[in-house]
Amino acid sequence: MADRPRVFVSRRIPEEGLRLILEACDATVWPDELPPPRDVLLRSVEGCDGILTLLTDRVDAELLDRAGPQLTVVSNYAVGFDNIVIPEANRRGIPVGNTPGALTDTTADLAFALLMAAGRRVVEGDRYVHDGHWRTWGPLLLLGTDISGGTIGIVGFGRIGQAVARRARGFGMTILYHDVAPLPDDVTGPFGATYVGLDELFARADFVSLHTNLTAETRHLVNAKRLRLMKPSAVLVNTSRGPVVDQKALYQALREGWIMAAGLDVTDPEPMPVDEPLLSLPNCIVVPHIASASTATRARMAEMAAANLIAGVRGERLPTPANPEVYGAK
Ligand code: DGY
Repeated sequence: MADRPRVFVSRRIPEEGLRLILEACDATVWPDELPPPRDVLLRSVEGCDGILTLLTDRVDAELLDRAGPQLTVVSNYAVGFDNIVIPEANRRGIPVGNTPGALTDTTADLAFALLMAAGRRVVEGDRYVHDGHWRTWGPLLLLGTDISGGTIGIVGFGRIGQAVARRARGFGMTILYHDVAPLPDDVTGPFGATYVGLDELFARADFVSLHTNLTAETRHLVNAKRLRLMKPSAVLVNTSRGPVVDQKALYQALREGWIMAAGLDVTDPEPMPVDEPLLSLPNCIVVPHIASASTATRARMAEMAAANLIAGVRGERLPTPANPEVYGAK
């Protein structure tokens, strides 16, 4: 049908969302496993009414201009939207959708899995056995850090940070958190969570778990100075965005025993090159940005991203706008 809105979808997403988009729109879907190269992306968005992007696509002034003035929505298939220059979207009055809530528990599950795996040296133990080193039960073999009864420091106490706190509570952990400001007691009370300054959090926690957005302020928030504050038995977990951690400093911290271990779902850059020094360390677990990767969660994200895209091309308010300010006081 000629009058159906034209949209570009920058990767195949689960059927639950794709089906809705194909029913409602004249859609071009990038079919490859890898993201469209920049020049292809720019060509593909020309003349589109809507674009569905992934965190691997940079949406900036250049892309929005190439799309043209008829563009009415950018729907990001992610809760994070640091790949999108929001002021540029706002300047053009373009609402940007994201997928809050859909992946909260799935991401918190993986954060906790990394926390436990790094703290109790699960990956090292697995390699040890596979490599044929297991000769006997050893009183000093692969000793780790207790999760139960330990102290967790959560940086960023939003939806995902709170979901991690819920899990930590089940393990009898003391919960410290840091955010831009202390949160009301009715939010933190159920977790018994205590607000502390960042340096105090790094110094006191046995486990530090990062759940902050990537902004100019949070880039390299975990730097050499903060890593040096941590306990030698401590573990760092990052499921937020790679650049929140200064990876050179982390390498030094892990190699020289300033901290015991790290579990990373996100890296800087992504993908992490195979010659990255961190990958040579046994005490650093790295997985390929899979915190939201469960079948059910990715399907929910697809439905939400489709709903935002379709609402946008129809001129309706997005169900979950990342930049509600674009609607003004309405
Ligand atoms: C997000 O949604 O921001 C995650 O990083 C990927 O699901």
